[in-house]
Amino acid sequence: MKKLLINGGIPLHGEVRASGAKNAVLPIMAAALLTDEPLLVSNVPRLRDVTTMMELLGSMGVALTTDETDNIRIDPGSIHDYRAPYEMVKTMRASILVLGPLLARHGRAEVSLPGGCAIGSRPVNLHIQGLAAMGADIHLEQGYIHAQAKRLKGAHIVLELVTVTGTENLMMAATLAEGATIIENAAREPEVVDLAECLNSMGARIGGAGTDTLVIEGVDRLTGTPYRVLPDRIETATYLVAGAITRGRVKVKETRPDILEAVLLKLEEAGAQVNTGTDWIEVDMQGRRPRAVQVRTAPYPAFPTDMQAQFLALNAVAEGTGTVTETVFENRFMHVQELLRLGAHIQLEGNTAISTGVSELTGAPIMATDLRASASLVLAGLAAKGDTIIDRIYHIDRGYEQIEEKFSGLGARIRRLRD
Ligand code: UD1
Repeated sequence: MKKLLINGGIPLHGEVRASGAKNAVLPIMAAALLTDEPLLVSNVPRLRDVTTMMELLGSMGVALTTDETDNIRIDPGSIHDYRAPYEMVKTMRASILVLGPLLARHGRAEVSLPGGCAIGSRPVNLHIQGLAAMGADIHLEQGYIHAQAKRLKGAHIVLELVTVTGTENLMMAATLAEGATIIENAAREPEVVDLAECLNSMGARIGGAGTDTLVIEGVDRLTGTPYRVLPDRIETATYLVAGAITRGRVKVKETRPDILEAVLLKLEEAGAQVNTGTDWIEVDMQGRRPRAVQVRTAPYPAFPTDMQAQFLALNAVAEGTGTVTETVFENRFMHVQELLRLGAHIQLEGNTAISTGVSELTGAPIMATDLRASASLVLAGLAAKGDTIIDRIYHIDRGYEQIEEKFSGLGARIRRLRD
């Protein structure tokens, strides 16, 4: 099992490039199932989750070609299977994104239920209810969602709560439905907007992306298209927090400040000087210790749940008492126990982690439990004095491209251990 060794305690300085967004590229890859022409996706990050999605599409007969750069050509013309097996869905919940497209384009799909998940129960009932409202015949059997429909019909769907992949699945399904679909209480995440733009470029007619009401006029067919994925706002923000937590100065290039407002505000509250241009963001702590902040997660445009673990690490070394309240997922504080091993003072009260900042963390062996939790452990390791060894680092490879190279480029002492 691969581990990361970090010798922390030194301020990070320099520039790093943001990769394409994991949470945009996965639905965009699934969207290829809505056409029979090739989709040419660029700015694709090299991530474990992208490989899993490639394997999943490949197992259905879709032809995928990658090149030296960051492009993938997805040719769904040769699809012959409409099933997402448990082995893949359990390693990546986003596999559920093939359900809507398969049903809309091919009239059938068999997708495993995701099952247990490290960050709460995370059901997919809203995906299923929405597709049923569009006329799909759906039943659950032996852990699989079996769905069928001759042609989906436009429907008026009011989502009970804001769900990102749920919105994406239903939006994709609606593009080929007969008539108009209205999705209310839709997710407004930038990745939902990116998917909508890709679908529109394939010939879909989606209005309202980025608001909480989507109006989708169904069309008879979609075509292939070239599409460039937007930058990863969570990866961007993780590198910015790395600058803040180590009291250094980090500039992230090829990114988008306009989709990170809630996070940048919190970095400023933490005492960072934040400068932005059209496609870059720089955080400068000017050698100062960060101040603790109060963070409450909620759907976009509020503070993202995918950044709370990193801010909890920041609060752990900050001056004063900070709180991180998680309202999107249950059970998303597994990193707390590991941060305690580095010397953090954190108490959990319900869905809030209250921390009293310590002036210094000290390195220790710790264990990654999920993707964003592992990012917070890397950040804490970078701030901690001495050696931190993070086990189960495969979690981080799901969502962070070339993490050691990127951090090394900022002056961090970090390397991968193989055993
Ligand atoms: C997506 C992101 C993930 C992010 C999350 C919240 C992808 C691939 N993943 O996950 O990184 O942390 O959004 O921003 O884009 N829920 C239900 N029933 C459903 C669907 C969701 O009860 O049918 C609940 C979930 O349990 C959770 C909340 O809704 O409490 C939000 O989850 P959701 O937005 O669906 O998360 P994902 O789309 O899985």
